[in-house]
Amino acid sequence: MSVEIKKIGVLTSGGDAPGMNAAIRAITRTALYRGIKVIGIQRGYQGLIEGDLTELTYTSVSRIINRGGTFLFTARSNEFRHPDGVKKAAETCRKNGIDAVVAIGGDGTFRGAADLSKIGGIPCIGIPGTIDNDIGMSDYTIGFDTAVNCVIDMVDRLRDTTESHQRCSIVEVMGRNAGYIALHSAISTGATAVALPEIEITCDDIVNKIRKSINAGKTHFIVIAAEGAKISAGEILQSIGDSLGINVRLTVLGHVQRGGMPTADDRVNATRLGHYAVDLLTKGIYDRVCGIQNNKLVDYDVQEALKITKPFDTDLYKAFLETSI
Ligand code: F6P
Repeated sequence: MSVEIKKIGVLTSGGDAPGMNAAIRAITRTALYRGIKVIGIQRGYQGLIEGDLTELTYTSVSRIINRGGTFLFTARSNEFRHPDGVKKAAETCRKNGIDAVVAIGGDGTFRGAADLSKIGGIPCIGIPGTIDNDIGMSDYTIGFDTAVNCVIDMVDRLRDTTESHQRCSIVEVMGRNAGYIALHSAISTGATAVALPEIEITCDDIVNKIRKSINAGKTHFIVIAAEGAKISAGEILQSIGDSLGINVRLTVLGHVQRGGMPTADDRVNATRLGHYAVDLLTKGIYDRVCGIQNNKLVDYDVQEALKITKPFDTDLYKAFLETSI
């Protein structure tokens, strides 16, 4: 398929992530610079089905690089999961002269892009945007760095009160299927233990780690649990209370982790990815997912990208285990 690109659509889909606005801005400015018009598709694939479109200009993307969330709004569309929904979305593209769509989000977003291309005949490019950092073909996803820094900030505050009361704080962080936020924040906050979806661990293991820590003279403890860990934050709380008789509190950080001003890394990398996506389109390269590997921009066929799972970072986990007490 080779199409001359005169107008592109851009959408964000699934969970929002800080830095998505920086990517939208980079896509818009790069495309306009190269003489391509840009249409913002609001509310993801659902908005595409419903024709919820707005033209993006140099100035409409001004002053968004520093803002979290996505100014195009986002949604999870059930209608788009069915071929009829995909066909309606493709029809919106044709009716409005949209030659290709850049979709920013996670795996679900890329599956949508693959369908829009295969069923709807609209060329697509995917950009990884999710705080979970769980896209196999990219070391980095937009929003991860900001989310980890948000957790660090919260846990640093929590430590003050945990230490004052000589308690144990269990902190549940986001990550239904991936423990990157949990592992990175556990290392960065000096947590005693971490529970991840990727690792088999029992409540006894965590109790034993804290016992060791008590024997080493520690009087307060932070335990980070990913929401999708093999053992839940609630189970950990119960075991620690029952087995060690220490004062335990649970803090569920929830959606605050998805908000806030994007970090420098997220702004810069989102800009690199947005620029690269338009670069591919102007070279006539479609149906790819862009990513960053070893700090270099890469792109994979969307179907291939969907098959790649990210290997768990065993070295980093070992570094945590051997430096935590
Ligand atoms: O965007 C990823 C994520 O934040 C996960 O870590 C979390 O499990 C999920 O989204 C929560 O999604 P929702 O917006 O549906 O509450």
